[in-house]
Amino acid sequence: MTERILIELTVNGVEHELIVEPRRTLVDALRHDIGLTGTHVGCEHGVCGACTVLIDGAPTRACLMFAVQAEGREIRTVESLAGADGRLSDLQQAFTDNHGLQCGFCTPGFLMLAQGFLDDVPDPSRAQIREVVASNLCRCTGYQGIVDSIASCAARRRTAREADVEPTTPEDRRAK
Ligand code: FES
Ligand code: FES
Repeated sequence: MTERILIELTVNGVEHELIVEPRRTLVDALRHDIGLTGTHVGCEHGVCGACTVLIDGAPTRACLMFAVQAEGREIRTVESLAGADGRLSDLQQAFTDNHGLQCGFCTPGFLMLAQGFLDDVPDPSRAQIREVVASNLCRCTGYQGIVDSIASCAARRRTAREADVEPTTPEDRRAK
């Protein structure tokens, strides 16, 4: 008889109890057991990055991880990006505005890759962005739009951060 085990996964802040075979991949558990089909499956062997999710904040290929290995970790999928009212996140909006997608198959993976990257490196150079997007495959865009999207999101967040900075000198305070 096939062995099955009970696991608890925390996905987008919600706890799920699942009964799975030990060989069940995380991406299959997310899509088929939990119903979060935003995470896509391309190659199923760690090459394309379509299945990228965040595990404890780090972009991770969900086809290369067993669901049992994700127990006790914070998992974020592309469904966590938009607001409860369906409004796109700033990163999703940047992909829309900068032609960062065409067919959209690779897009959830790129979004989660970029989300984790910008959390880690909020002010990246264009060279750093180019290096990071090289880990995922897109057959449509030629990557230029994806790089532009991530750069644009980083620039907007930088502007927002700077607007939030409290003036520190009397001159700054008078200028404010
Ligand atoms: Fe996971 Fe391609 S489906 S890397
Ligand atoms: Fe089609 Fe990337 S937008 S594969």
